[in-house]
Amino acid sequence: MTTRIVRHVSELTTNDPSLGDFSALGRLFDAAFVVDDEQVLWVGPDSEAPDADEEIDADNRAVVPGFVDSHTHLVFAGERSDEFEARMAGVHYDGGGIARTVASTRAATLEELRRGTRKRVAELFAGGVTTVEIKSGYELTTNGETRALEVASEFSEEVTWLGAHVVPPEFANNRDGYVDLLTSSMLDSCSPHAKWADVFCDRGAFSVDEAREVLSKAQAKGLAPRLHANQLAHSGAIALAVELDCASVDHCTYLDDHDIDLLSASATVATLLPGAEFSTRSPYPSARRLLDAGVSVALATDCNPGSSYVTSIAFVIALAVREMAMTVDEALYACTKGGALALRRGDVGHLGVGARADFAVLDAPRAAHLAYRPGGNIVEKTFRVSLA
Ligand code: NIG
Ligand code: FE
Repeated sequence: MTTRIVRHVSELTTNDPSLGDFSALGRLFDAAFVVDDEQVLWVGPDSEAPDADEEIDADNRAVVPGFVDSHTHLVFAGERSDEFEARMAGVHYDGGGIARTVASTRAATLEELRRGTRKRVAELFAGGVTTVEIKSGYELTTNGETRALEVASEFSEEVTWLGAHVVPPEFANNRDGYVDLLTSSMLDSCSPHAKWADVFCDRGAFSVDEAREVLSKAQAKGLAPRLHANQLAHSGAIALAVELDCASVDHCTYLDDHDIDLLSASATVATLLPGAEFSTRSPYPSARRLLDAGVSVALATDCNPGSSYVTSIAFVIALAVREMAMTVDEALYACTKGGALALRRGDVGHLGVGARADFAVLDAPRAAHLAYRPGGNIVEKTFRVSLA
């Protein structure tokens, strides 16, 4: 196996507290690190750099762990810019437009879905993402959800079945019938193609009881639970996420003290999606209250055509810093280590010895430029171990 050394790294963020300055971000300055085709082998000061087969000169640029985008809806067709324009003029987001994307996704060919997903994955990767979670949820039929998961699996091992996104129009007068479909033949067909199950548990989507039923049945089929919660309203969805030991509960736009207490006593990550608040002109979630209460926080793009057509993690970091009072380091940690925790992955989101050799070289001396210079792509190059 070929070994490579990356030298002259002005600022290396490892997220390994046993390294460098021993902070949570395990930061080294004027650093070097060695990888092989799979993992990190050595990290240390550039002055102690060992030999390797190949050398990459970072030329005083910063290196960060590859971003872990733990929440996306990349498999879709069509676009909804008219809704965005209407929202900017004062219309509220209520998820009603999901049905339009369902119609265009159902009408798309397999090749069209693949092409669109590939393009969005490429945009994410070019911006430093190396691990991406991808949900289904825009077909809402047994065959359609299955094909969406198959497309997602071509790009990621972190695939989520979101058949319970909304009740589709043909079941508008028979929501119990849709929950029956979800928990029987759709689940049977989808479960071999997914690792996770998710439910949009919110006003206008699914109730806490419906979400519990779907996720419990999915768990029995070997899928691990996660949840969309409290994007549109306060509900009991956070408590359900904690009850089911969801890896992550996502959005958390509306939180009360009880929700925060529950999360801080749990292993459930709060994944914040500020691209959605940006695109729906909603209040941003209380990141500071979560962090100050000791809750693990992740940041992700939520890339989808309705509430957050965002493929830049740097933009998400900038929003988190500017609008949610997170420090740059907290935001960087949330979309690397935080994303890994939200996917219960120990091998990504950090650059300690043994981590997967996924990293981004920035065209900047410090990672703070991710928030400081919004609007461009300062990721010079993304290094990513490809799927087996
Ligand atoms: O995570 N909230 C539910 N699902 C997506 C939005 C879906 C859409 O509007 O198309 C989200 O924001
Ligand atoms: Fe989402």
